[in-house]
Amino acid sequence: MLPPVPRPEDYHVSPTTGFLPSELPLHCLPDPVYDRWERIINNFQSLLLSKRLRTVIDKLPIIPATHLYNEPEWRRAYSILAFMAHGYIWGGEKPAERLPPSITYPLLQVSDHLEIPPLATYAGLVLWNYKPIFLSDALILDNVATLVTFTGSLDEQWFYLVSVAIEAKGGSAVPLMLEAIQAARNGDAATVTDRLRAMAETLDELGSLLLRMYENCDPHVFYHRIRPYLAGSKNMKDAGLPHGVYYDDGSRNSSWRQYGGGSNAQSSLLQLFDIVLGVEHRPTGSKGGETSESEAEPGVLPKPRHSFIHEMRQYMPGPHRRFLQAVESVANIRDFVENNRRDRNLTIAYDACLAMLRALRDKHIQIVSRYIVVKSREARSASRSRDSHGTDDVPARGRGIASISYKDNGADGKPKKKVRGTGGTALIPFLKQARDETGEPAIDAWARKVLTGGRRSAADHEVAAESMRFGAEELDAEESTIVGLAGSWSMETEGGGLCSY
Ligand code: HEM
Repeated sequence: MLPPVPRPEDYHVSPTTGFLPSELPLHCLPDPVYDRWERIINNFQSLLLSKRLRTVIDKLPIIPATHLYNEPEWRRAYSILAFMAHGYIWGGEKPAERLPPSITYPLLQVSDHLEIPPLATYAGLVLWNYKPIFLSDALILDNVATLVTFTGSLDEQWFYLVSVAIEAKGGSAVPLMLEAIQAARNGDAATVTDRLRAMAETLDELGSLLLRMYENCDPHVFYHRIRPYLAGSKNMKDAGLPHGVYYDDGSRNSSWRQYGGGSNAQSSLLQLFDIVLGVEHRPTGSKGGETSESEAEPGVLPKPRHSFIHEMRQYMPGPHRRFLQAVESVANIRDFVENNRRDRNLTIAYDACLAMLRALRDKHIQIVSRYIVVKSREARSASRSRDSHGTDDVPARGRGIASISYKDNGADGKPKKKVRGTGGTALIPFLKQARDETGEPAIDAWARKVLTGGRRSAADHEVAAESMRFGAEELDAEESTIVGLAGSWSMETEGGGLCSY
Protein backbone atom coordinates (compact mmCIF):
# COMPACT_ATOMS: atom_id res chain seq x y z
CA MET A 1 0.00 0.00 0.00
CA LEU A 2 1.16 3.53 -0.76
CA PRO A 3 2.17 5.66 2.22
CA PRO A 4 -0.31 8.50 2.84
CA VAL A 5 0.43 11.94 1.40
CA PRO A 6 1.98 13.76 4.40
CA ARG A 7 0.01 16.41 6.27
CA PRO A 8 2.16 19.56 6.66
CA GLU A 9 0.82 20.24 10.16
CA ASP A 10 2.36 16.99 11.38
CA TYR A 11 5.81 18.35 10.54
CA HIS A 12 5.58 21.94 11.85
CA VAL A 13 4.90 23.09 8.30
CA SER A 14 2.03 25.52 7.81
CA PRO A 15 -0.42 25.10 4.90
CA THR A 16 -0.36 28.89 4.50
CA THR A 17 3.12 30.08 5.50
CA GLY A 18 5.02 26.90 4.67
CA PHE A 19 8.26 26.60 6.63
CA LEU A 20 7.67 29.87 8.44
CA PRO A 21 5.97 29.02 11.73
CA SER A 22 2.18 29.22 11.85
CA GLU A 23 2.44 31.41 14.99
CA LEU A 24 4.50 34.59 14.65
CA PRO A 25 8.00 34.41 16.21
CA LEU A 26 8.16 35.82 19.74
CA HIS A 27 9.76 39.24 20.29
CA CYS A 28 10.86 38.30 23.77
CA LEU A 29 10.93 35.26 26.06
CA PRO A 30 8.12 35.68 28.59
CA ASP A 31 9.74 34.06 31.63
CA PRO A 32 11.74 36.73 33.56
CA VAL A 33 14.47 34.18 34.17
CA TYR A 34 15.58 34.91 30.58
CA ASP A 35 15.64 38.71 30.97
CA ARG A 36 19.43 38.67 30.98
CA TRP A 37 19.52 37.08 27.52
CA GLU A 38 16.93 39.52 26.23
CA ARG A 39 18.88 42.48 27.65
CA ILE A 40 21.98 41.32 25.76
CA ILE A 41 19.97 41.01 22.55
CA ASN A 42 18.43 44.47 23.10
CA ASN A 43 21.95 45.91 23.25
CA PHE A 44 23.48 43.47 20.83
CA GLN A 45 24.97 45.82 18.23
CA SER A 46 26.31 48.20 20.89
CA LEU A 47 27.97 45.32 22.69
CA LEU A 48 29.52 44.10 19.44
CA LEU A 49 30.64 47.57 18.41
CA SER A 50 32.23 48.28 21.77
CA LYS A 51 33.73 44.76 21.80
CA ARG A 52 32.14 44.14 25.20
CA LEU A 53 29.91 41.22 24.21
CA ARG A 54 32.42 38.57 25.24
CA THR A 55 32.95 40.08 28.70
CA VAL A 56 29.23 40.33 29.28
CA ILE A 57 28.64 36.74 28.16
CA ASP A 58 31.57 35.51 30.25
CA LYS A 59 29.86 36.97 33.33
CA LEU A 60 26.47 35.50 32.44
CA PRO A 61 25.29 32.65 34.68
CA ILE A 62 24.13 29.39 33.12
CA ILE A 63 20.38 29.69 32.64
CA PRO A 64 18.99 26.28 31.67
CA ALA A 65 16.20 25.84 29.16
CA THR A 66 13.81 24.57 31.84
CA HIS A 67 11.53 27.61 31.64
CA LEU A 68 10.66 27.27 27.97
CA TYR A 69 7.11 26.01 27.68
CA ASN A 70 6.13 25.91 24.00
CA GLU A 71 7.62 25.82 20.49
CA PRO A 72 7.68 29.59 19.90
CA GLU A 73 9.66 29.95 23.14
CA TRP A 74 12.12 27.21 22.18
CA ARG A 75 12.58 28.86 18.78
CA ARG A 76 13.14 32.33 20.23
CA ALA A 77 15.67 30.90 22.70
CA TYR A 78 17.48 29.10 19.89
CA SER A 79 17.53 32.16 17.67
CA ILE A 80 18.93 34.56 20.30
CA LEU A 81 21.43 32.02 21.68
CA ALA A 82 22.67 31.36 18.14
CA PHE A 83 23.11 35.11 17.53
CA MET A 84 24.95 35.40 20.85
CA ALA A 85 27.15 32.41 20.01
CA HIS A 86 28.19 33.82 16.61
CA GLY A 87 28.61 37.29 18.09
CA TYR A 88 30.85 35.79 20.76
CA ILE A 89 32.93 33.77 18.29
CA TRP A 90 33.34 36.42 15.58
CA GLY A 91 32.96 39.65 17.55
CA GLY A 92 36.62 40.33 18.23
CA GLU A 93 39.91 40.85 16.44
CA LYS A 94 40.44 37.08 16.62
CA PRO A 95 37.71 34.47 16.68
CA ALA A 96 36.98 32.86 20.04
CA GLU A 97 37.81 29.15 19.95
CA ARG A 98 35.80 28.38 23.07
CA LEU A 99 32.10 28.98 23.63
CA PRO A 100 31.46 29.42 27.38
CA PRO A 101 28.95 27.34 29.38
CA SER A 102 26.52 30.27 29.72
CA ILE A 103 25.84 29.92 25.98
CA THR A 104 26.81 26.31 25.31
CA TYR A 105 24.71 24.69 28.01
CA PRO A 106 21.31 26.17 27.06
CA LEU A 107 22.17 26.22 23.33
CA LEU A 108 22.77 22.46 23.33
CA GLN A 109 19.48 21.96 25.18
CA VAL A 110 17.40 23.99 22.72
CA SER A 111 19.18 22.54 19.69
CA ASP A 112 18.44 19.08 21.01
CA HIS A 113 14.79 19.93 21.42
CA LEU A 114 14.49 21.47 17.96
CA GLU A 115 16.72 18.81 16.37
CA ILE A 116 19.01 21.35 14.76
CA PRO A 117 22.77 21.98 15.08
CA PRO A 118 23.86 24.37 17.88
CA LEU A 119 24.81 27.37 15.77
CA ALA A 120 23.14 30.04 13.66
CA THR A 121 21.28 28.25 10.89
CA TYR A 122 18.78 29.55 8.35
CA ALA A 123 15.98 28.70 10.80
CA GLY A 124 17.38 30.94 13.55
CA LEU A 125 18.40 33.76 11.22
CA VAL A 126 15.37 33.82 8.94
CA LEU A 127 12.47 31.48 9.69
CA TRP A 128 12.16 32.42 13.37
CA ASN A 129 13.49 35.96 13.20
CA TYR A 130 10.87 38.26 11.68
CA LYS A 131 7.75 40.22 12.52
CA PRO A 132 5.09 41.84 10.35
CA ILE A 133 5.17 45.65 10.39
CA PHE A 134 1.38 45.83 10.27
CA LEU A 135 -0.30 42.81 11.80
CA SER A 136 -3.37 43.12 9.61
CA ASP A 137 -1.41 43.20 6.33
CA ALA A 138 -0.11 40.26 4.32
CA LEU A 139 3.32 38.79 4.94
CA ILE A 140 5.05 40.40 1.96
CA LEU A 141 8.51 41.92 1.61
CA ASP A 142 7.24 45.44 2.25
CA ASN A 143 5.51 44.40 5.46
CA VAL A 144 8.21 42.52 7.37
CA ALA A 145 11.01 43.47 9.74
CA THR A 146 13.69 41.42 11.46
CA LEU A 147 13.86 40.85 15.20
CA VAL A 148 17.63 40.45 15.63
CA THR A 149 20.65 41.38 13.50
CA PHE A 150 24.39 41.48 14.11
CA THR A 151 25.03 44.83 12.50
CA GLY A 152 21.77 46.73 12.80
CA SER A 153 22.17 47.60 9.12
CA LEU A 154 19.33 47.81 6.62
CA ASP A 155 21.44 45.59 4.36
CA GLU A 156 21.47 42.76 6.90
CA GLN A 157 17.75 43.12 7.55
CA TRP A 158 17.07 43.03 3.84
CA PHE A 159 19.26 39.96 3.37
CA TYR A 160 17.08 38.03 5.85
CA LEU A 161 13.80 39.64 4.82
CA VAL A 162 14.05 38.72 1.13
CA SER A 163 14.25 35.14 2.32
CA VAL A 164 11.31 35.59 4.69
CA ALA A 165 9.25 36.95 1.79
CA ILE A 166 10.34 34.04 -0.43
CA GLU A 167 9.35 31.56 2.28
CA ALA A 168 5.99 33.29 2.79
CA LYS A 169 5.19 33.35 -0.93
CA GLY A 170 6.52 29.84 -1.50
CA GLY A 171 4.57 28.57 1.52
CA SER A 172 1.35 28.98 -0.42
CA ALA A 173 2.67 26.40 -2.89
CA VAL A 174 3.06 23.66 -0.25
CA PRO A 175 -0.61 22.57 -0.41
CA LEU A 176 -0.51 22.83 -4.23
CA MET A 177 2.36 20.38 -4.35
CA LEU A 178 0.63 17.90 -2.07
CA GLU A 179 -2.64 18.22 -4.00
CA ALA A 180 -0.76 17.55 -7.23
CA ILE A 181 0.70 14.37 -5.72
CA GLN A 182 -2.76 13.24 -4.59
CA ALA A 183 -4.28 14.07 -8.00
CA ALA A 184 -1.55 12.09 -9.78
CA ARG A 185 -2.44 9.12 -7.56
CA ASN A 186 -6.04 9.54 -8.62
CA GLY A 187 -5.06 9.75 -12.30
CA ASP A 188 -6.55 13.25 -12.45
CA ALA A 189 -4.39 14.97 -15.09
CA ALA A 190 -6.49 18.15 -15.18
CA THR A 191 -5.89 18.84 -11.47
CA VAL A 192 -2.18 17.99 -11.75
CA THR A 193 -1.90 20.44 -14.66
CA ASP A 194 -3.74 23.13 -12.75
CA ARG A 195 -1.51 22.75 -9.66
CA LEU A 196 1.66 22.66 -11.76
CA ARG A 197 0.64 25.88 -13.49
CA ALA A 198 0.09 27.55 -10.13
CA MET A 199 3.48 26.23 -8.93
CA ALA A 200 5.20 27.64 -12.04
CA GLU A 201 3.64 31.05 -11.39
CA THR A 202 4.77 30.94 -7.77
CA LEU A 203 8.31 30.01 -8.78
CA ASP A 204 8.35 32.91 -11.22
CA GLU A 205 7.35 35.27 -8.38
CA LEU A 206 10.06 33.81 -6.14
CA GLY A 207 12.59 34.65 -8.84
CA SER A 208 11.35 38.25 -8.91
CA LEU A 209 11.60 38.45 -5.12
CA LEU A 210 15.15 37.14 -5.24
CA LEU A 211 16.13 39.97 -7.59
CA ARG A 212 14.91 42.49 -5.02
CA MET A 213 18.04 41.59 -3.00
CA TYR A 214 19.86 44.27 -5.04
CA GLU A 215 17.49 47.00 -3.79
CA ASN A 216 18.78 47.25 -0.25
CA CYS A 217 21.59 44.79 0.36
CA ASP A 218 24.88 46.16 -0.85
CA PRO A 219 27.42 43.50 -1.95
CA HIS A 220 30.27 45.26 -0.13
CA VAL A 221 28.34 45.49 3.14
CA PHE A 222 27.21 41.90 2.72
CA TYR A 223 30.68 40.52 2.07
CA HIS A 224 32.66 42.51 4.62
CA ARG A 225 30.18 43.18 7.40
CA ILE A 226 27.42 40.58 7.38
CA ARG A 227 28.86 37.35 5.96
CA PRO A 228 31.70 37.10 8.50
CA TYR A 229 29.21 36.80 11.38
CA LEU A 230 27.41 33.95 9.61
CA ALA A 231 30.57 31.86 9.31
CA GLY A 232 30.64 28.37 10.75
CA SER A 233 33.49 26.46 12.33
CA LYS A 234 34.21 23.80 9.70
CA ASN A 235 37.32 24.26 7.52
CA MET A 236 37.99 27.56 9.25
CA LYS A 237 41.66 26.99 10.01
CA ASP A 238 42.68 30.05 8.04
CA ALA A 239 40.19 32.15 9.92
CA GLY A 240 41.71 31.09 13.26
CA LEU A 241 39.59 28.06 14.15
CA PRO A 242 41.91 25.13 13.32
CA HIS A 243 39.93 22.68 15.46
CA GLY A 244 36.51 24.28 15.16
CA VAL A 245 34.89 25.62 18.32
CA TYR A 246 35.15 24.09 21.78
CA TYR A 247 31.62 23.84 23.12
CA ASP A 248 32.34 24.12 26.83
CA ASP A 249 29.14 23.21 28.62
CA GLY A 250 30.86 23.01 31.97
CA SER A 251 30.82 19.21 32.00
CA ARG A 252 33.13 16.41 30.89
CA ASN A 253 31.07 16.16 27.70
CA SER A 254 32.50 19.43 26.40
CA SER A 255 33.98 18.89 22.95
CA TRP A 256 35.37 20.47 19.80
CA ARG A 257 32.73 20.77 17.13
CA GLN A 258 32.75 21.83 13.50
CA TYR A 259 29.72 23.07 11.60
CA GLY A 260 29.05 24.89 8.34
CA GLY A 261 27.78 28.48 8.67
CA GLY A 262 24.26 29.83 8.20
CA SER A 263 23.10 29.75 4.59
CA ASN A 264 19.97 29.83 2.47
CA ALA A 265 21.09 26.45 1.19
CA GLN A 266 19.52 25.28 4.49
CA SER A 267 16.06 26.38 3.36
CA SER A 268 13.63 23.48 2.93
CA LEU A 269 11.50 25.30 0.38
CA LEU A 270 13.61 24.93 -2.77
CA GLN A 271 14.43 21.36 -1.81
CA LEU A 272 10.70 20.66 -1.58
CA PHE A 273 10.20 21.97 -5.12
CA ASP A 274 13.09 19.75 -6.27
CA ILE A 275 11.60 16.69 -4.60
CA VAL A 276 8.08 17.22 -5.91
CA LEU A 277 9.31 17.86 -9.45
CA GLY A 278 11.72 14.92 -9.39
CA VAL A 279 14.90 17.06 -9.66
CA GLU A 280 17.93 15.16 -8.40
CA HIS A 281 21.24 16.67 -7.36
CA ARG A 282 24.42 14.67 -7.66
CA PRO A 283 27.66 15.24 -5.76
CA THR A 284 29.47 18.19 -7.29
CA GLY A 285 31.49 17.27 -10.33
CA SER A 286 29.77 13.94 -11.04
CA LYS A 287 27.64 13.39 -14.08
CA GLY A 288 24.45 11.36 -14.46
CA GLY A 289 25.01 7.59 -14.57
CA GLU A 290 28.22 7.61 -12.53
CA THR A 291 28.64 5.01 -9.79
CA SER A 292 27.58 5.84 -6.28
CA GLU A 293 28.79 4.59 -2.89
CA SER A 294 26.82 1.38 -3.04
CA GLU A 295 27.95 0.41 -6.52
CA ALA A 296 31.63 1.35 -6.37
CA GLU A 297 34.18 -1.35 -7.22
CA PRO A 298 36.10 -2.88 -4.32
CA GLY A 299 39.29 -0.95 -3.59
CA VAL A 300 38.08 2.14 -5.42
CA LEU A 301 37.24 5.11 -3.24
CA PRO A 302 33.50 5.51 -3.68
CA LYS A 303 32.04 8.81 -4.77
CA PRO A 304 29.92 10.44 -2.08
CA ARG A 305 26.28 9.47 -2.65
CA HIS A 306 24.77 12.74 -1.53
CA SER A 307 25.24 16.24 -2.81
CA PHE A 308 26.00 19.29 -0.71
CA ILE A 309 22.36 20.28 -1.15
CA HIS A 310 21.27 17.01 0.45
CA GLU A 311 23.78 17.42 3.29
CA MET A 312 22.21 20.77 4.09
CA ARG A 313 19.17 18.93 5.42
CA GLN A 314 21.18 18.26 8.58
CA TYR A 315 20.94 22.00 9.24
CA MET A 316 17.14 22.13 9.03
CA PRO A 317 14.83 21.72 12.02
CA GLY A 318 14.09 18.00 12.56
CA PRO A 319 10.38 18.13 11.59
CA HIS A 320 11.16 19.99 8.34
CA ARG A 321 13.84 17.46 7.48
CA ARG A 322 11.36 14.64 8.08
CA PHE A 323 8.73 16.41 5.98
CA LEU A 324 11.12 16.41 3.02
CA GLN A 325 11.77 12.71 3.57
CA ALA A 326 8.04 11.97 3.79
CA VAL A 327 7.30 13.88 0.57
CA GLU A 328 10.23 12.13 -1.10
CA SER A 329 8.60 8.79 -0.34
CA VAL A 330 5.40 9.76 -2.19
CA ALA A 331 6.73 12.00 -4.99
CA ASN A 332 5.17 10.82 -8.24
CA ILE A 333 4.72 13.84 -10.51
CA ARG A 334 7.64 13.19 -12.85
CA ASP A 335 6.50 9.61 -13.52
CA PHE A 336 2.91 10.72 -13.94
CA VAL A 337 3.83 13.35 -16.53
CA GLU A 338 6.11 10.90 -18.32
CA ASN A 339 3.32 8.34 -18.48
CA ASN A 340 0.94 10.98 -19.85
CA ARG A 341 3.38 12.75 -22.12
CA ARG A 342 0.83 13.01 -24.91
CA ASP A 343 -1.09 15.46 -22.74
CA ARG A 344 0.52 18.69 -23.99
CA ASN A 345 -1.02 20.91 -21.32
CA LEU A 346 0.38 18.66 -18.63
CA THR A 347 3.89 18.41 -20.06
CA ILE A 348 4.06 22.15 -20.75
CA ALA A 349 2.97 22.92 -17.19
CA TYR A 350 5.56 20.50 -15.80
CA ASP A 351 8.40 21.77 -17.99
CA ALA A 352 7.39 25.35 -17.12
CA CYS A 353 7.92 24.55 -13.43
CA LEU A 354 11.42 23.29 -14.20
CA ALA A 355 12.13 26.34 -16.36
CA MET A 356 11.06 28.71 -13.56
CA LEU A 357 13.06 26.84 -10.92
CA ARG A 358 16.05 26.85 -13.20
CA ALA A 359 15.64 30.57 -13.89
CA LEU A 360 15.58 31.20 -10.16
CA ARG A 361 18.84 29.29 -9.73
CA ASP A 362 20.30 31.26 -12.62
CA LYS A 363 19.45 34.57 -10.94
CA HIS A 364 20.95 33.22 -7.74
CA ILE A 365 24.24 32.47 -9.51
CA GLN A 366 24.43 36.11 -10.55
CA ILE A 367 23.84 37.13 -6.93
CA VAL A 368 26.53 34.80 -5.60
CA SER A 369 28.91 36.07 -8.25
CA ARG A 370 28.31 39.72 -7.30
CA TYR A 371 28.08 39.28 -3.52
CA ILE A 372 30.78 36.67 -2.92
CA VAL A 373 33.00 35.76 -5.85
CA VAL A 374 33.67 39.29 -7.12
CA LYS A 375 33.99 40.71 -3.61
CA SER A 376 36.39 37.97 -2.59
CA ARG A 377 38.50 38.61 -5.71
CA GLU A 378 38.56 42.34 -5.02
CA ALA A 379 39.56 41.73 -1.42
CA ARG A 380 42.36 39.36 -2.41
CA SER A 381 43.55 41.75 -5.03
CA ALA A 382 43.68 44.60 -2.48
CA SER A 383 45.43 42.34 0.02
CA ARG A 384 48.06 41.35 -2.56
CA SER A 385 48.68 44.92 -3.56
CA ARG A 386 49.17 45.86 0.11
CA ASP A 387 51.59 42.96 0.54
CA SER A 388 53.55 43.87 -2.56
CA HIS A 389 53.91 47.46 -1.31
CA GLY A 390 54.93 46.18 2.11
CA THR A 391 52.22 48.28 3.74
CA ASP A 392 49.35 47.40 5.95
CA ASP A 393 47.47 50.63 6.03
CA VAL A 394 43.96 49.23 6.21
CA PRO A 395 42.25 50.27 9.43
CA ALA A 396 41.59 47.47 11.91
CA ARG A 397 37.87 47.69 11.27
CA GLY A 398 38.44 46.60 7.68
CA ARG A 399 40.40 43.53 8.69
CA GLY A 400 39.57 41.25 11.63
CA ILE A 401 36.77 38.82 10.86
CA ALA A 402 36.11 40.31 7.46
CA SER A 403 39.40 39.03 6.19
CA ILE A 404 38.67 35.40 6.81
CA SER A 405 38.43 34.22 3.26
CA TYR A 406 41.30 35.99 1.67
CA LYS A 407 44.07 36.29 4.21
CA ASP A 408 45.37 32.79 3.76
CA ASN A 409 48.65 32.95 5.63
CA GLY A 410 50.94 30.15 6.71
CA ALA A 411 51.99 29.45 10.28
CA ASP A 412 54.82 31.97 9.97
CA GLY A 413 52.33 34.69 9.12
CA LYS A 414 53.63 34.95 5.55
CA PRO A 415 51.39 34.26 2.56
CA LYS A 416 51.26 30.58 1.66
CA LYS A 417 52.98 29.09 -1.33
CA LYS A 418 51.19 30.09 -4.49
CA VAL A 419 48.41 27.90 -5.66
CA ARG A 420 47.28 28.22 -9.24
CA GLY A 421 43.64 29.10 -9.03
CA THR A 422 40.85 30.57 -11.02
CA GLY A 423 38.97 32.20 -8.20
CA GLY A 424 35.52 30.97 -7.31
CA THR A 425 35.49 28.31 -10.00
CA ALA A 426 34.38 25.67 -7.54
CA LEU A 427 31.51 27.58 -5.99
CA ILE A 428 30.09 28.70 -9.30
CA PRO A 429 30.37 25.25 -10.95
CA PHE A 430 28.51 23.78 -7.97
CA LEU A 431 25.69 26.28 -8.44
CA LYS A 432 25.71 25.84 -12.21
CA GLN A 433 25.51 22.09 -11.82
CA ALA A 434 22.54 22.46 -9.46
CA ARG A 435 20.92 24.80 -11.99
CA ASP A 436 21.48 22.51 -14.96
CA GLU A 437 20.33 19.42 -13.03
CA THR A 438 17.06 21.28 -12.54
CA GLY A 439 16.37 20.98 -16.26
CA GLU A 440 17.29 17.29 -16.58
CA PRO A 441 13.85 15.78 -15.88
CA ALA A 442 12.19 17.96 -18.59
CA ILE A 443 9.84 15.89 -20.73
CA ASP A 444 10.13 17.75 -24.00
CA ALA A 445 13.49 17.05 -25.67
CA TRP A 446 14.01 20.64 -26.82
CA ALA A 447 13.10 21.99 -23.38
CA ARG A 448 15.54 19.54 -21.80
CA LYS A 449 18.32 20.70 -24.10
CA VAL A 450 17.76 24.35 -23.30
CA LEU A 451 17.26 23.77 -19.59
CA THR A 452 20.36 21.68 -19.09
CA GLY A 453 22.70 24.42 -20.22
CA GLY A 454 22.31 24.26 -23.98
CA ARG A 455 22.76 28.01 -24.18
CA ARG A 456 24.60 30.55 -22.07
CA SER A 457 22.46 32.56 -19.70
CA ALA A 458 22.92 36.17 -18.60
CA ALA A 459 24.52 34.84 -15.40
CA ASP A 460 26.97 32.73 -17.42
CA HIS A 461 28.01 35.78 -19.43
CA GLU A 462 28.46 37.89 -16.32
CA VAL A 463 30.48 35.23 -14.51
CA ALA A 464 32.69 34.75 -17.59
CA ALA A 465 33.26 38.51 -17.93
CA GLU A 466 34.22 38.78 -14.26
CA SER A 467 36.64 35.86 -14.63
CA MET A 468 38.30 37.64 -17.55
CA ARG A 469 38.55 40.84 -15.49
CA PHE A 470 40.41 39.10 -12.68
CA GLY A 471 41.89 36.25 -14.69
CA ALA A 472 45.47 37.41 -15.09
CA GLU A 473 45.86 38.35 -11.45
CA GLU A 474 44.45 35.06 -10.28
CA LEU A 475 47.09 33.03 -12.00
CA ASP A 476 49.31 34.44 -9.28
CA ALA A 477 46.85 33.93 -6.47
CA GLU A 478 48.17 32.71 -3.14
CA GLU A 479 44.88 31.57 -1.69
CA SER A 480 43.01 28.43 -2.47
CA THR A 481 39.79 28.81 -0.55
CA ILE A 482 36.66 30.89 -0.84
CA VAL A 483 34.34 30.92 2.15
CA GLY A 484 30.73 30.95 1.03
CA LEU A 485 28.12 30.76 3.76
CA ALA A 486 27.56 27.16 4.75
CA GLY A 487 30.66 26.00 2.93
CA SER A 488 34.28 26.62 2.07
CA TRP A 489 34.89 26.09 -1.59
CA SER A 490 38.02 25.04 -3.39
CA MET A 491 39.27 27.55 -5.91
CA GLU A 492 41.87 25.54 -7.74
CA THR A 493 39.84 22.49 -8.73
CA GLU A 494 39.12 22.54 -12.41
CA GLY A 495 35.45 21.99 -12.94
CA GLY A 496 34.75 22.71 -9.30
CA GLY A 497 33.70 20.54 -6.48
CA LEU A 498 33.03 20.94 -2.89
CA CYS A 499 36.33 20.70 -1.08
CA SER A 500 34.84 20.59 2.36
CA TYR A 501 32.40 22.39 4.53
C1 HEM B 1 23.05 38.03 -1.00
C2 HEM B 1 22.30 36.96 -1.15
C3 HEM B 1 22.82 35.55 -1.24
C4 HEM B 1 24.08 35.07 -1.27
C5 HEM B 1 25.37 35.85 -1.21
C6 HEM B 1 24.00 33.63 -1.36
C7 HEM B 1 25.10 32.79 -1.39
C8 HEM B 1 25.04 31.43 -1.50
C9 HEM B 1 26.18 30.53 -1.45
C10 HEM B 1 27.62 30.97 -1.27
C11 HEM B 1 25.74 29.30 -1.62
C12 HEM B 1 26.59 28.01 -1.66
C13 HEM B 1 26.49 27.28 -0.36
C14 HEM B 1 27.15 28.04 0.78
O1 HEM B 1 28.39 28.22 0.80
O2 HEM B 1 26.42 28.43 1.68
C15 HEM B 1 24.30 29.36 -1.74
C16 HEM B 1 23.49 28.28 -1.93
C17 HEM B 1 22.13 28.37 -2.00
N1 HEM B 1 21.36 29.51 -1.87
FE1 HEM B 1 22.03 31.39 -1.71
N2 HEM B 1 22.69 33.26 -1.41
C18 HEM B 1 21.93 34.40 -1.32
C19 HEM B 1 20.57 34.47 -1.28
C20 HEM B 1 19.75 33.40 -1.41
C21 HEM B 1 18.32 33.47 -1.33
C22 HEM B 1 17.48 34.71 -1.05
C23 HEM B 1 17.87 32.21 -1.52
C24 HEM B 1 16.43 31.78 -1.55
C25 HEM B 1 15.86 31.39 -2.63
C26 HEM B 1 19.01 31.35 -1.71
C27 HEM B 1 18.97 29.99 -1.91
C28 HEM B 1 20.06 29.16 -1.98
C29 HEM B 1 19.97 27.73 -2.20
C30 HEM B 1 18.68 26.94 -2.34
C31 HEM B 1 21.27 27.25 -2.22
C32 HEM B 1 21.73 25.79 -2.47
C33 HEM B 1 22.10 25.62 -3.93
C34 HEM B 1 20.90 25.39 -4.83
O3 HEM B 1 19.94 24.72 -4.42
O4 HEM B 1 20.96 25.86 -6.00
N3 HEM B 1 20.13 32.11 -1.63
N4 HEM B 1 23.91 30.68 -1.66
